[in-house]
Order: sequence, then structure tokens, then C-alpha cells
Amino acid sequence: MPDTVRPNSLDAFWMPFTPNRQFKADPRMIVRAEGMHYYTPEGRAIIDGTSGLWCCAAGHARPRIVAAIQKAAAELDYATSFNLGHPLAFEFANRLAGILPEGMDRIAFTNSGSESVDTALKIALAYQRARGKAGKFRLIGRERGYHGVNFGGTSVGGITRNRMMFGPLVGGVDHLPHTLDIARNAFSRGQPQHGAKFADALERLVQLHDASTIAAVIVEPVAGATGVIMPPKGYLQRLRELCTRHDILLIFDEVITGFGRLGAPFAAHRFEVQPDIISMAKAITNAAVPMGAVAASRKIYDTILEASDTPIEFFHGYTGSGHPLACAAGIATLDTYREEGLFERAAELEPYWEDALHSLRDASHVIDIRNLGLIGGIELEPRSGAPTQRALDVHRACFDAGVLVRTTGDIIALSPPLIIEKAQIDHIVGTIREALATVA
Ligand SMILES: Cc1ncc(COP(=O)(O)O)c(C=O)c1O
Repeated sequence: MPDTVRPNSLDAFWMPFTPNRQFKADPRMIVRAEGMHYYTPEGRAIIDGTSGLWCCAAGHARPRIVAAIQKAAAELDYATSFNLGHPLAFEFANRLAGILPEGMDRIAFTNSGSESVDTALKIALAYQRARGKAGKFRLIGRERGYHGVNFGGTSVGGITRNRMMFGPLVGGVDHLPHTLDIARNAFSRGQPQHGAKFADALERLVQLHDASTIAAVIVEPVAGATGVIMPPKGYLQRLRELCTRHDILLIFDEVITGFGRLGAPFAAHRFEVQPDIISMAKAITNAAVPMGAVAASRKIYDTILEASDTPIEFFHGYTGSGHPLACAAGIATLDTYREEGLFERAAELEPYWEDALHSLRDASHVIDIRNLGLIGGIELEPRSGAPTQRALDVHRACFDAGVLVRTTGDIIALSPPLIIEKAQIDHIVGTIREALATVA
């Protein structure tokens, strides 16, 4: 065995979205999780301000979910959903349909958010073709959007670094402008006042390409990975109106906004905007087993099925689609959300969360604070000549002080489990304030 691949060496794991060299020189390890906390190998508790990665909405290692996974693994470890069924997949699809917006009750399963996005885009194209509009092939994303890392999601995504290494990507893609406008909206509480007009850029794209070539628009209702950008008041409503007017499908990528993060089951509920397709993942199983899903309207499903001239109507799916362990985890997760009233809890905590975050307005380096539901974004002035480094230093200082925060660019992004207590909110915010005071 080459000695670079020793047991316990950190070399072999090529870590995702991580400064590998920096991390491996100075690692931060966790070995256990429970409720609101992670634990380091030395047994130090780290309070989780990020729900893992926006995904453990019910907190960690919840007993009902653990038991459901254990039972499923012993009973039916795996079954394909290609031309064969097992009850948990049907039960979970029905349960999801029960909390999705009215009429969005045809559910395809995937294994991740990235796969959900690519599945959603393929459903949109297949639908246009099935209704005799194959010429509608363009996909419209948004600057600074994040839709995962597969080719479709990378193409409609709008984060430069995520795109620039990967050649021409998928053809026929264009982008709306992003909606961050700190000059007019700094320190907005909840949705910012200014910016509904950013949606009108869709009219420009329609003029440029013609609506007869555009299949779908995809947006995150709240843009997360790029650094927490809230939709301006009226923006999503306007986008819906324009999509309807031009016969364009609207896809909400709810990978982070689904499952209570905004104090409602989905962002579609919170904003009272009905998309045609919703992609989801992460908190669908409380992240205890990787899973994603796509919900389509019945009209889309029926159109694709009825137009098919082959027995299989949609040539798409994954070996893991509807995996029994994921479905078992998902059903137990929905039970946990309902029994503990976690979506409502997020709504109740929102004002307290908002006040706590905005108390950091006068903290060092802070140039904007954004919040909605149990999401927070704290934007820092970048260190001159070293963008992102100040936020990484805050991440490190918080971790050393027992608080996990996420940073993206020079933004601290927060998305705690929905079980968080008020005292824990104070603790996280207080730790960030101290970290901001200590970093250069
Ligand atoms: C809005 C959105 N879409 C897609 C994804 C990709 O999900 P995954 O990492 O599970 O592939 C993410 C991940 O953060 C996301 O935030």
C-alpha cells in the first residue's frame, strides 16, 4: 500500500466543496450527532446552526427515523422501482402528495438535490415535446442560482466558479438577473421591498428568444448556496404571471426551502405561488438517508403518459429511485415533523430569530443581514485582497467556540434545525458576535 493511503490518513478522500489542502492541514472532525448537537472525537459538543447542510430539519439522530431505517434495512434492503414495486415507495409518494401544494401529486424519486433538478428539467422538456411543442427547449435559470452540480443544474445555475471549468455545458440556457440589491435593501427584515421588477427581465428574454423556444424557468424561491438572497416582495408572483402569460413552465427548486424551513411545508405555500414542478431533497428524509424527489402537476404527468407511443412513457430514473431505506426514513421524518409541529414551530420562532439576527447590525464587518423563516444570512465586508477568508475565519472561530455556521463567499449562512430553542438562538448569535470581534 503506498504510504499516502495509510489507514487514518486524510489523503484519499477528495472532499467536496472544501479547501482540501487547508482542511487536511488543520482538520475539524465530528463523530456523533444528537438533537441540536454534533460531537467531536474529544466529546466536545458543537451546536448545529446549519442543520448539517440545510437538511437535518428535525435535528440529529431522531429515534423514530433511526428505528424506521433499521427496520427497513432488515426487512427489504433494496428493490428496484424499474417495473417492480414495493409498498414503502407508494406510501411515501402518497404522503408527500398530502403536504405538497394542491394538484402537485405526481412524485418521481431521486437520490439528491442535483438529480432532482436534472429530473425536473427533463420532465419540463418531455412535457413540451409531449404536447407538440418540441420547439420549446430553452431553460432559463438565474445569476447566482444554485441547482446542484450535475450538468443540467450547473447549466441553469449562476455561480461562476461552479460553471467555468466545465466547458459549454447544456445548450439553450439563459439567465435572469439575480435579485440581491444591498444598496436599496440592506438590513431588510424578511422580504425586501425593492426588486419585484427583476422578474421583468423574463420579458426581455422572451423578446430575445421568443416564447415559442422557452420550456421552463427554474429558480430557488430563496437562493441559499450563493449566500442567502430573499425574493423581493412581489417578485415570485410576477415571475408566475409572466410564465403563465408566455406559456412557460415555472420550476421551484425547493431543495432548501421545502419541509418547513420557511414556516410552511413549501415555499410555494409561504409565497402563495403555485409552480408547475417542484424539486426537493435534503430534509425530505431529515438527510438520514440521501434522497430527492420531484413533484409535477397531474397535467404534466398525464400529458407525458398519454402522448407516449411506447410502453415506458418517460425514459429516466435511478437505481436508487424510491430506495426502501430512504422511503422508510422519509415516512418517519414526515411523522416527526407533524407530531412535533415543526413547520408551525419555525413560523412561531421567526420573529425571535429575526430580532436576534438583526441585533448583529452593529457587529464588526457586517454590511447586510437577511432573514426569512429560519434562514439567516450575514454578509461581511470582504477582507481586502483576500475575499472569502474573513468568513472562513469566522467559521473557524465559531467552531472552536462550539458553534457550527456555514460560510459561502463572505456570507455567514444560518439554517438551524427547527427544534432550536430561543436560548440556543441567543447562544449562536452571541458566539458569532464574539467571533466577528476577534477576526481581522
Ligand atoms: C437549491 C438547491 N438545489 C440543488 C441542490 C443540490 O443538492 P445535492 O447537494 O443534494 O445534490 C442544493 C444543495 O444545496 C440546493 O441548495
